[in-house]
Amino acid sequence: MKKDLGVKPYVFPMPVLMIATYDEEEKVDVMNMAWGGICDDNMVALNISEDHQTADNIKKRMAFTLSIADIDHLAESDYFGTVSGRNVEDKFERTGMHAVKSARVDAPIILDYPLTLECKVVELEHTANGGFRVLGEILNVIVDSKVLDENGNVDPTKLNAFVFDQFQNGYYKIGEKVGDAWKSGRKFIKKTK
Ligand SMILES: Cc1cc2nc3c(=O)[nH]c(=O)nc-3n(C[C@H](O)[C@H](O)[C@H](O)COP(=O)(O)O)c2cc1C
Repeated sequence: MKKDLGVKPYVFPMPVLMIATYDEEEKVDVMNMAWGGICDDNMVALNISEDHQTADNIKKRMAFTLSIADIDHLAESDYFGTVSGRNVEDKFERTGMHAVKSARVDAPIILDYPLTLECKVVELEHTANGGFRVLGEILNVIVDSKVLDENGNVDPTKLNAFVFDQFQNGYYKIGEKVGDAWKSGRKFIKKTK
């Protein structure tokens, strides 16, 4: 039996992305973002509430970095989504995490996360329903060598990433590999009537 749940933002899994920016005084801020993702080979789109410190920082510095949160820093990552840099002067410093300035964009790289996209803002859009959307061009990806496989490719199992559940606000460890994209469905291509 199927049941209607009404209008809900129900997609699963949701990513746990860490958006890092500088304010006008070079202070690091990081926020937790589920409503963001890849929208082209070299582009990411972020959906941000405009009252966040991150929105201010992005408008001023026109840059951000986007990191994949890992389970080793789950508590820190959740905290980044719980308090605002507007209200907590030392929001980032309290976590004891480490940041350096990106060589490519005007934004910090959080060294403790395994994989980071360095992004230049190319578009700021106010949507019809009052939303604020940021389009960032990926200028580079920085990765810890410890998450690479023997061929130099990112091994997703080594990222130790986790996902967000919009249904009940849980965080979930990513499970085992269950298939291969563009291969697992091939049996239907060969099928004849
Ligand atoms: C799991 C999770 C996902 C979130 N996703 C978003 C999001 O996609 N967009 C957004 O504007 N805020 C999101 N937030 C809320 C911000 O991270 C939060 O308001 C944060 O304190 C903003 O920090 P800032 O004011 O220092 O920028 C999320 C929070 C959590 C815990």
